[in-house]
Amino acid sequence: MKKIRVMVVGYGNVGRGVIKALAANEDMELAGIVSRSPERVRRAVELPVLPVEAVGEWQQAFRPDIAILCGGSKNDLPEQGPTLVNCVSTVDSFDNHSCIPQYFERMDAAGRAAGQVAVISTGWDPGIFSLERVLANAFIPGSRAYGFYGLTGKGGLSMGHSDALRTIPGVRDARQYTHAVESAVDRVRAGENPEFEPGDMHTRECFVVLDAGADPAAVEAAIKSMPGYFAPYRTTVHFVSQDELDTRYRGFPHDGCVVAAGVTGGEHAATVEYRCKWESNPEATANVLVAHARAAVRLKAEGKTGAFTILDIPPAYFSTHSRADLLKKFM
Ligand SMILES: NC(=O)c1ccc[n+]([C@@H]2O[C@H](COP(=O)([O-])OP(=O)(O)OC[C@H]3O[C@@H](n4cnc5c(N)ncnc54)[C@H](OP(=O)(O)O)[C@@H]3O)[C@@H](O)[C@H]2O)c1
Repeated sequence: MKKIRVMVVGYGNVGRGVIKALAANEDMELAGIVSRSPERVRRAVELPVLPVEAVGEWQQAFRPDIAILCGGSKNDLPEQGPTLVNCVSTVDSFDNHSCIPQYFERMDAAGRAAGQVAVISTGWDPGIFSLERVLANAFIPGSRAYGFYGLTGKGGLSMGHSDALRTIPGVRDARQYTHAVESAVDRVRAGENPEFEPGDMHTRECFVVLDAGADPAAVEAAIKSMPGYFAPYRTTVHFVSQDELDTRYRGFPHDGCVVAAGVTGGEHAATVEYRCKWESNPEATANVLVAHARAAVRLKAEGKTGAFTILDIPPAYFSTHSRADLLKKFM
C-alpha cells in the first residue's frame, strides 16, 4: 500500500498533535515539517524540517500528497492558506467562525486555479460540531442547535481567552477555563429553544499569576471589564503562583456538546445530543485533521478541486475501512 505523504506546516500544539496522530494511522506517513522558525523546530525534534518559504526545496525533498496547516487562525492561516494551496492540497482548522465564508471563497478560488483541494475549518468546532449542528437542525426541523463547552467540573481551557488575559498589564501568566451553565443546558434539553445572551450559557474562571508588585484589585477589574471576552460573563478570578499554574492547571483539556431539541409530528419531544470530551484539545483536533487529509487525497484523486468543509465530504472518505466493511460493521 502506498502511504499518503503528509507535510506538517507549523510546529505548535496542533502541529505536534498531527505528528503523533500520523504515527497511529498506518496509511499515512510524515513527509516532513515546514516552519517559519526551522531552527527552533530542529532543536525540539529529530525530524526533517525545512523553511516554509523554500517551496522548491520541500516539494523535491518531501513530495507531499497533502499539507496539514497547523498555524494560528488569526494571522497565520489567512496568509499561508491561499499561498500554499498554489503548490499542494491542504487541510486546516481555521476557527474564526465569523470569517469562514470569506476564507472559504479565497481558498476555493486559489485551489481551483491551482488544481488543488483545500479542506478548511475542520477540527471539533468548527468541524464535527458544525456537522452535528446541521444534522440536528435537518432531523428536527425548526430546532436550534446550541453549543455548550466545559461540562466537566474542571471546565474547558480556552486558549483565546488565556491569551487575552496575558495582554493585561500586571499579568505574568494565566489560563482561562470555560464552564457551561447547567440550567441553560437543561432549558435547551427541555425544548424551550431559548434566546440566550452569551453570558447566559457560560461562565469564565481565570487562574492568574501576577507580576511582582502588580495590584490584584486593578488586574481583577481590568479582566472583568474586558469587552467581548469577559464583560458579558460571570467571571471569577483566582490568583495563583506560577508553580501552581504549571502543575495543577497544565495540559489542554476541553469538552463540549451540541444539543438540539424540538418536536416531531407536532407534539412528541425530540432531542439530539453529541458530546466530545478531550484531555488534549490540540491532539483531538489533530486527529480530525488527519482523517480529513485522507478525505482530501481521495477527493483530489477523483479530479475535484477547490475548497471543501466537513459538510461537503462523504463520511466514508474519512475512514480507513473498505466500503464492504463499513456496510457490514458500521451501519
Ligand atoms: N477547529 C478546531 O476545533 C480547533 C481546535 C483547536 C485549535 N484550532 C486552531 O488551531 C490553531 C493552532 O493552535 P495551536 O495551539 O497549535 O497554536 P500554537 O501552538 O500557537 O502554534 C501556531 C503556530 O505558531 C508557531 N509557533 C508555535 N510555538 C512557537 C514558539 N514557541 N515560538 C515561535 N513560534 C511558535 C508555529 O508556526 P511556525 O512553526 O511556522 O513558526 C505554529 O504552527 C489555533 O489558532 C486555532 O485556530 C482549531
